[in-house]
Amino acid sequence: MNETTAPAGTDPLGAPVVRLEGRAKVTGTARYAAEHTQPDRACARPVGATVARGRVTALHRDEALAVPGVIAVLGHDNAPRLRRGDDATLHLLQDDRVPHRGWYVALVVAETPEAAREGAAAVRVEYAEEPHDVILTADHPGLYTPEKANGGHPALREHGDFPAAYEAAQVRVDATYTLGALHNHPMEPHASTAWWQDGRLTAYDSSQGSTAVRDALAALFGLPEDRVAVVSEHVGGGFGSKGTPRPPVVLAALAALHTGRPVTCALPRRHLPAVTGHRAPTVQRVRIGAGRDGRIGALAHEVATHTSTVREFVEQAAVPSRVMYTSPSSRTLHRVAALDVPSPSWMRAPGETPGMYALESAMDELAVATGLDPVELRLRNDPAAEPDSGLPFSSRHLAECLREGADRFGWQPRDPRPATRRQGDLLLGTGVAAATYPVLIAPSRATAFAAPDGGYEVRVNATDIGTGARTVLAQIAAHALRVPLERVRLELGDSRLPAAPVAGGSSGTASWGSAVHKACSQLCERLEEHGGRLPPEGMSVTADTEQETARGSRYARHAFGATFAEVAVDTVTGEVRLRRLLGVYAAGRILNPRTARSQFIGGMTMGAGMALCEGSTTDPRFGDFAEPDLASYHVATCADVPGVEAYWLDEADEHLNPMGGKGVGEIGIVGTAAAVGNAVHHATGVRLRELPLTPDRLLPRLERAGLRPSAVAA
Ligand code: MOS
Repeated sequence: MNETTAPAGTDPLGAPVVRLEGRAKVTGTARYAAEHTQPDRACARPVGATVARGRVTALHRDEALAVPGVIAVLGHDNAPRLRRGDDATLHLLQDDRVPHRGWYVALVVAETPEAAREGAAAVRVEYAEEPHDVILTADHPGLYTPEKANGGHPALREHGDFPAAYEAAQVRVDATYTLGALHNHPMEPHASTAWWQDGRLTAYDSSQGSTAVRDALAALFGLPEDRVAVVSEHVGGGFGSKGTPRPPVVLAALAALHTGRPVTCALPRRHLPAVTGHRAPTVQRVRIGAGRDGRIGALAHEVATHTSTVREFVEQAAVPSRVMYTSPSSRTLHRVAALDVPSPSWMRAPGETPGMYALESAMDELAVATGLDPVELRLRNDPAAEPDSGLPFSSRHLAECLREGADRFGWQPRDPRPATRRQGDLLLGTGVAAATYPVLIAPSRATAFAAPDGGYEVRVNATDIGTGARTVLAQIAAHALRVPLERVRLELGDSRLPAAPVAGGSSGTASWGSAVHKACSQLCERLEEHGGRLPPEGMSVTADTEQETARGSRYARHAFGATFAEVAVDTVTGEVRLRRLLGVYAAGRILNPRTARSQFIGGMTMGAGMALCEGSTTDPRFGDFAEPDLASYHVATCADVPGVEAYWLDEADEHLNPMGGKGVGEIGIVGTAAAVGNAVHHATGVRLRELPLTPDRLLPRLERAGLRPSAVAA
């Protein structure tokens, strides 16, 4: 098969088309935000606060200004004024308040990145320091129940009588899981190049959605939207951290306004944890009451998490427990404390990733307590309708994912007894966990143009953050236009194109694709009305999906999956090695198997990192994250994930969108950490209930369990 396109005469939608921009990326001609150098461009380097809470009392610029090449030092006392926007994390250099360590208190503008860096190091800041509070605990006095958790979900939902049903249950599990912060760390750190011309602001920004960046800049600088243009042509990943406008684009615009020159602000990686969001830490108590047959009668999932004092952000980790299992009596609750910490934000499968780690670990504990096979336990609690809402599922094939995964993985025969499979000093085990992620969609616009030369131009301000969005949108267009892929030219990544929502929430393909599909279908109809004859100037149709998306759905719409893991635990070193990871997903129609597989495997790999090596420590004294770079914050590398396999079911669901897909960007991470943790329990009998599963945590437990070889245990 020709890999760059679909075979002649076949539907381009569903074909394993290679990324349209692949060649540009591997040959280095694809340009990223910091590479859009303008003539006379200056470079800006922000300076972060070195205290966790307080006020700036003095900003000493002289030494910085004396560095050769330094042009200006901006602070709250001289930076151009911003209007208040919706997002207080963007209200930069406007006042003297320091809400967390790393909050930007100055910005050095220089001729070169090197001079900016040297200048930033020479800025001296004096503070009136205040006592700070940065450590989340389950009983933190600042915890309160917000009205809503993220995604508009009510913070609290209750059904039946949880306490009574739990007390009456034959088998009870009561476990608390503790997760630290996690960091997104995309390959391309956040960066922006901005300039002003004739009262217009133009920015190249590394963002997951430049329409939202355009709107934010217009609000902050008090400009009509048509005087701001934001381009995000190529983006080196985001994982949620570029899902909302971030400081670099505001700082670059401020510096450009102040100096009258184009300015690039490219963040050093070490700044990212403090200013581009993080996955909030959670303490999650899960209680499950079940019969001896494993049928759940009572389920409580209670989450404590943190936000910053800058804005409220409530990781919706208990929400998946409203979706997953039959539970006549239930209680799902989120509480949050506003601490003097960096503002948490979106990170791949926010809510579901930490929440399903807790729920799926607790399900494994219930399997052990009831003596049931973990796959069978989940099958017994597969609900006919969504437990919390009572809505029917548009499609739910979790059971099929579990069965097919078990077959492919070779789950049976499985001796459930822990710590019995030895291979020298290694202990082996297998684990399973389910996954879910909601089907989300937002309104989008798109234009389809039939060009006089016989080609079609499709315009939509979608963002391709490395997922293959460009490619799959061209496939959707070719499908709707009923033409070969080669006839479609796709334009995205520019806020001057028809407005479109963010590449986030696994909703991009559904949101942008619905608008592209609508515009292309209507263009076909218009062409037919003209008897197939194209006017000399071509023909254009713009579609808007505002109405369709506002309607909502009478169905509970979620993707599901099952993840299986095999681990080997070294009883001498306490190291956990992943041997195999296998996922089976039900995510509607798969629109491009090549790029979808890459998303599933990428998500699973990120989940493996969360399980085994990604660890972030909040420093109680200084109030920041102790592992801010990739030398100290360890993400999974190729050697950590020897065998990762992703499969999917052919799932037909007519209640989604014209393409029939559910979104694939996030579900791969969701079940992975629990599957690995459950495999470690099966291997060793040790249940850590915290991540990552590093030797310092595992060794003492192996020793206590008498599992270390006696020669080293002494
Ligand atoms: Mo993703 S965390 O929804 O950008």
